[in-house]
Amino acid sequence: MKMEKDQDLKMYDTWDRHWRDAGDSCGITWLGKWMFKAKKKSLLKRISDLDITTAIEVGCGSGTTLEILQAAGLRCRGIDASPHAVENCVKKGLNARLQKMEEVQEQFDLVFSDGVLEHFLDFRPHARHFMAISRRYVLLIQPNHDSFWGRTLAYLSGLLRQRQNVHEYNYRMDDFIQVFDENRFKLVASDPVFCDVFRLLLFEKTQ
Ligand SMILES: C[S@@+](CC[C@H](N)C(=O)[O-])C[C@H]1O[C@@H](n2cnc3c(N)ncnc32)[C@H](O)[C@@H]1O
Repeated sequence: MKMEKDQDLKMYDTWDRHWRDAGDSCGITWLGKWMFKAKKKSLLKRISDLDITTAIEVGCGSGTTLEILQAAGLRCRGIDASPHAVENCVKKGLNARLQKMEEVQEQFDLVFSDGVLEHFLDFRPHARHFMAISRRYVLLIQPNHDSFWGRTLAYLSGLLRQRQNVHEYNYRMDDFIQVFDENRFKLVASDPVFCDVFRLLLFEKTQ
């Protein structure tokens, strides 16, 4: 347990250094821009069908996905454990605050995260907190290491950017689906994003 907490704290530090050093572009490469474009398309397609007004993005990072939620007209808040990420988001005019997900007590119609859970040695307590603060839906965008392109890009990125990358554990989509299912959140959509390098997983709370 102690080792897990230490690893989490190290990971928060690594992210903060990443956002501090990334500059105004937030370190997003042309490939990253391309990926975010695909995420935007999938995200907008899914949220436009939902009857929701409030949303939280856990781990809003560069603000790219938070901007999408805000532009879609949702009353949304971004939170991040990294002071430099929050500073960048606020500069962009986004509603972001320095807060760790485990400190959030209010509920939101939609709890969203993109690229957060795979960085925890044990993602389950964090996934349960997502469910605890969700009134209706949880939407995740997760790297899919089971797809050909997901595995290939993860391998290449490990080779080329090993020192810059924040460590990612190799969870499968079924690992997420099982934990949500055990807590009565049923999977309502699983969409491939960017040649299945990522999966958009949408869960709905059941009674
Ligand atoms: C992959 S980045 C987010 C990318 C983001 N969607 C974007 O548009 O740039 C993951 C972020 O999650 C944040 N994070 C990790 N664990 C967190 C926690 N427990 N509470 C809040 N933020 C967290 C990290 O600081 C990092 O900025």
